[in-house]
Amino acid sequence: MTQTSLVADNITVSRGNLVVLDDVSFTVEQGSVFALLGGNGAGKSTTLLTFLGFISPTSGKVLVNNIDVSKNLTTARSVIAYLPEAATLYEHLNAYENLLYFLKLSGLKIGLGEIDLALDKVSLPGKARKNKLQTYSKGMRQKVAIALALLRDTDILLLDEPTSGLDPVAIDEFHTLISDLSKQGKTVLMVTHDVYGACQVADRIALLRHGCLVGEFSAPPQGRIQTELVHQAFSKEHS
Ligand SMILES: Nc1ncnc2c1ncn2[C@@H]1O[C@H](COP(=O)(O)OP(=O)(O)O)[C@@H](O)[C@H]1O
Ligand SMILES: [Mg+2]
Repeated sequence: MTQTSLVADNITVSRGNLVVLDDVSFTVEQGSVFALLGGNGAGKSTTLLTFLGFISPTSGKVLVNNIDVSKNLTTARSVIAYLPEAATLYEHLNAYENLLYFLKLSGLKIGLGEIDLALDKVSLPGKARKNKLQTYSKGMRQKVAIALALLRDTDILLLDEPTSGLDPVAIDEFHTLISDLSKQGKTVLMVTHDVYGACQVADRIALLRHGCLVGEFSAPPQGRIQTELVHQAFSKEHS
């Protein structure tokens, strides 16, 4: 039987008078890739933040590996690696120094060999690794941030617009990496507004508009979700 890694159970999030999420429900099965699509301000980042307990739903609940986040925040967070929309790394440190520093903050002692393997997985060129991040492109910085999420080696990855700032080759490499991780049993919930990319990689796509889930798509066995179908729904919602 497949296990459910993430559950949003009728969650509503209000900020002042604004309803940011309106009775949103979905589940993400263990080892699957779930993409949350929507325009700016739809509530995508807010959804991720509820799983980390940084935002508490006004009503409803979120579960991580069947744990109610509001009841056991520490355990829930310990199984999640989170890649924020704007990952902050240190500009005056190189890739190794950044990773060693943030891993230490997470209480992890990981050697350079393992760090190199993670940087290989995200295809960060070897000769750049000892350069300060201030010399990096946005895509290269993103790769370091993704490597950090991988090195934490958690069951679940929450990725907020992971491909923004990456060039097309890097986006393809990233999607291959996500597919490999899901084959290894990792669960991925990613937020994006890239319909094409979501269809390439996701087992399931949910469309969010003004805080409401307005569409859900599932890939057929061994197949992919049709870009055209999602694109139509997405355009309709944003016209
Ligand atoms: N810190 C905040 N305080 C008040 N409102 C916020 C805050 N962060 C986001 N919002 C509002 O919540 C809504 C959803 O935001 P967000 O989840 O960031 O959307 P998305 O990630 O889909 O672009 C937006 O209307 C935004 O203005
Ligand atoms: Mg966002």
